[in-house]
Amino acid sequence: MTWIAIGTLSDIPRRGARCVATPQGKVAVFRTQDDQVYAIDDQCPHKGGPLSQGIVHGTAVTCPLHNWVISLETGKALGADEGVVRTISVKVEGERLFLALEALASRAA
Ligand code: FES
Repeated sequence: MTWIAIGTLSDIPRRGARCVATPQGKVAVFRTQDDQVYAIDDQCPHKGGPLSQGIVHGTAVTCPLHNWVISLETGKALGADEGVVRTISVKVEGERLFLALEALASRAA
């Protein structure tokens, strides 16, 4: 497994996100109120809205475009909407954050 360093936890505000450019596209990295970190593709399954600009509540994010709610844990749209985005494994070592690059590569293949 190859992990790529993407900065530190304090780079991301609580209940906020950062957009990280990777060889397999943009990834939205979220930090919840209780400091859990999740990564999913920065592209809403509805019409591609930038999920990293959405509002985090619990372990979900509301898309800024048309308010679909996406689970950060499963990447699935919640409620009546249907769709899914790719989830990417995140490793937290102290303050430092890493994304699972191999998972990105294999899923893109
Ligand atoms: S693009 Fe996200 S809800 Fe429409």
